[in-house]
Amino acid sequence: DTNSASPCYVLALDQGTTSTRAILFDTSDATVAASHQREHRQYFPQPGWIEHDAEEILEQARECIRVVCDKACEAGISVESVKAVGIANQRETTVVWDRESGRPLHRALVWSDIRTRETCRALMAEVDGAEDHKRRRTGRTAAAAKGADRHDHPADRFRERTGLPISTYFSGVKLKWLMDHDPSVRDAILSGSALFGTVDSWLLYRLTEQRAHVTDVTNASRTLLMDLQRQRWDAQLLQAFGIPESCLPRICSSAEVYGTLSGTGCAWDGRLPIAGVLGDQHAAMVGQACLHVGTAKCTYGTGCFLMVHTGERAVPSAHGLLTTAAFRLGACAPMHYALEGSVAVAGAGVQWLADHLQIVGSVKEAEQVAASVPDTGDVYLVPAFSGLFAPRWRSDARGTIVGMTQFTRRAHLVRAMLEQVCFQTTEVLRAAESDLQQAGLALEHDALRVDGGMAANNLLMQIQADLLGMPVVRPRVGEATALGAAAAAAIGAGVFTDMEAVRALWQQEREFTPQIGATERQARHRRWSQAVERSLGWAVE
Ligand code: G3P
Repeated sequence: DTNSASPCYVLALDQGTTSTRAILFDTSDATVAASHQREHRQYFPQPGWIEHDAEEILEQARECIRVVCDKACEAGISVESVKAVGIANQRETTVVWDRESGRPLHRALVWSDIRTRETCRALMAEVDGAEDHKRRRTGRTAAAAKGADRHDHPADRFRERTGLPISTYFSGVKLKWLMDHDPSVRDAILSGSALFGTVDSWLLYRLTEQRAHVTDVTNASRTLLMDLQRQRWDAQLLQAFGIPESCLPRICSSAEVYGTLSGTGCAWDGRLPIAGVLGDQHAAMVGQACLHVGTAKCTYGTGCFLMVHTGERAVPSAHGLLTTAAFRLGACAPMHYALEGSVAVAGAGVQWLADHLQIVGSVKEAEQVAASVPDTGDVYLVPAFSGLFAPRWRSDARGTIVGMTQFTRRAHLVRAMLEQVCFQTTEVLRAAESDLQQAGLALEHDALRVDGGMAANNLLMQIQADLLGMPVVRPRVGEATALGAAAAAAIGAGVFTDMEAVRALWQQEREFTPQIGATERQARHRRWSQAVERSLGWAVE
């Protein structure tokens, strides 16, 4: 009980794309009692391929938990006062391992890995072929069949059931690629000796002495294999992908006891229930207390992920967003849904300025340099390094800089790089707003809640408020993802008895209010759109 006098703690394990962190939170006020972080290796075996070593991730997770446990003991926090552990994870990254030994059969295929392009094309073509066959049998014309389809594009053929387009991004496609390209993986899956999971399932399996092979609804909603309404693996989809259900984890809620922590070699082993699991962006939704319809959060990291809560209804997107699970906080709790849009290049763009163009020394310095000029001098930078994501989805776009004159200095370019993050985020939020409106719902206009590394950049947040035309609010706890995982675990373990306790953890640190008028905002968005137009169609595909 949060009101009891004795302090109470919950551990969060935040397993991200580049690093793993364990953070121990005091459940009364979300203060951080101890934390530890490790970075893991990124493997780039071929252009477009990105892999992780799942064993290394597991080892680092164990180490982070161990170190935090030691720090907590040193700080006088008793083992009994730590009540549960929650996991937030990089989503879609795919692991296949041996059921008996628990050893991975292949390096993990990371969410941003695009080797599955052909797999996607084949899936789209197959569905097209099947449609043609059905039409011939039923005598329906192609036009009539098209009219009957809610989504005409082949990539959208699974959208109604899953909320997702067919894309290299999702884990079911990655599992199919592994089965198609590695005969030993294929045989092991078909014979039942191998198991599949995203990073949540992988960690759960190994941190519970191989007892739990489960996933939560948020991670399952990113596979392309789950029926989003029924929250079950879908037999037709499994057939289309050629994946047997026996290798898939059981789908659970995001807050319940999945098993007991073990194998880390610390005092918490055998005591702590693992009681919360969420994909990291969904965890940030919870950590930001975006718990009712129309609330929105944006996490600014390497890329940038914006999510809008749509309540207990899955809202379809007609504007290029994903329909996804937001969270289900309890086995008997209702499912909450969200619309999501991602911007591919946020922090990665500033990193590129530092590493490749070498016009800023560090990401930190970028804020000062950009602040040294009052505007970009009408320069617009579109970093479509590998195309544009939501809401445009143009893989043929490539990066461009327009509007340069002899007056242009590096500060203008750096500022233009910050601005582009805000233009793209605004486009995603506007797309979500249109989808909400079509569903008879509304966006809450009081504020966009922000978190992630780049949210610490005050100039970026001010530009974001200006270009959105609505306030941007930064919470006191910057670690929204970890806090969300901890909150889910607190619910799962019965430490929190309702959502009010989660809401109470959220406190505002700073609000950024728009400083420009509608006319200027519209003019700048028009210029941005013109710049984007110039980036489209550049890549020869
Ligand atoms: O969908 C991918 C996302 O979950 C990765 O987030 O913060 O680990 O890069 P992050």
